[in-house]
Amino acid sequence: MSDSTDSTSPSPLKKKGGKKIMIAVVAAIVVVALIATVVLGGFLNPNEQTALEKIKSQGKIIMATEATFIPFESFDPTNGTYVGFDIDLANRITENVSAELGVPITLEIRDVAFNTIPASLNNKQIDMSLSGMTITDERNESVMFSTPYYMAEAGFGMLVKTADNSLNSVEALTSASSIVVNTGTTSEIWVQKELVDKGLYPANKVKSLPTIAGCVQDVSIGQSQVFIIDKPTAEEYAGQSSGDLKVSAVIPSYEPYGVALNKEATDLKEIIDRVINTMIENGEMEKLRIKWGLN
Ligand code: ARG
Repeated sequence: MSDSTDSTSPSPLKKKGGKKIMIAVVAAIVVVALIATVVLGGFLNPNEQTALEKIKSQGKIIMATEATFIPFESFDPTNGTYVGFDIDLANRITENVSAELGVPITLEIRDVAFNTIPASLNNKQIDMSLSGMTITDERNESVMFSTPYYMAEAGFGMLVKTADNSLNSVEALTSASSIVVNTGTTSEIWVQKELVDKGLYPANKVKSLPTIAGCVQDVSIGQSQVFIIDKPTAEEYAGQSSGDLKVSAVIPSYEPYGVALNKEATDLKEIIDRVINTMIENGEMEKLRIKWGLN
């Protein structure tokens, strides 16, 4: 009776032995995991490393940028490389970090939507960003900036179709049929604060796109009437448009660009500030501006 049921299930002895092995295996895994956590954790957990230690163990600096902001960053399809003022500066920074650490360090460039950059710095997915990013009080709350390396003092340019003569002043913007801006940029904030919040322009006629190139395209195909962006970039796109686009007016604004970093990356900031200050003092920064047609 009870025998017949026992015969169909594994013997109690076998079962007990299996359990013992299982316990031993689980215990071994737990012990190995604990040792790994304690011994290696301190070295491998990126959150416990300083910015320079993380870069050293990666062998590279991971740099994010929205790479359609000419002449600061763009993709050169003929060579398959990123080029621009910010790229040259990022390479100088990388050389100096490498020299300081005494190991070869490469520069990895990631092309991302501009508004995603602060969050990627916060969670340390990237080590720095050179993206023509203006140093502002708001951004200072979430990221840390290097000393400024470029000043777009003139402000924002209004990029329109060359044939369009209706937006020749900042005041005329209130009559624009539509405005496009790059998401997360200072010009988007300007439109919000100076036009929308003041009741001078309806929010639903402002379009926000993730890339500069997308915004330029929007004006080019007549989807938006005007794109507002840092003057050097607006002028660069107008110059490259073979007469299709022009900068019709300039909005005064002060835009000092800085390298954006994680707030804890003080050791990396120290090197970057030194590189920037040296380049300003020895004239290299001026040469870089001339190379990229900036003033
Ligand atoms: N300077 C402006 C800002 O900080 C625009 C920067 C846009 N850069 C870019 N790579 N899309 O908001």
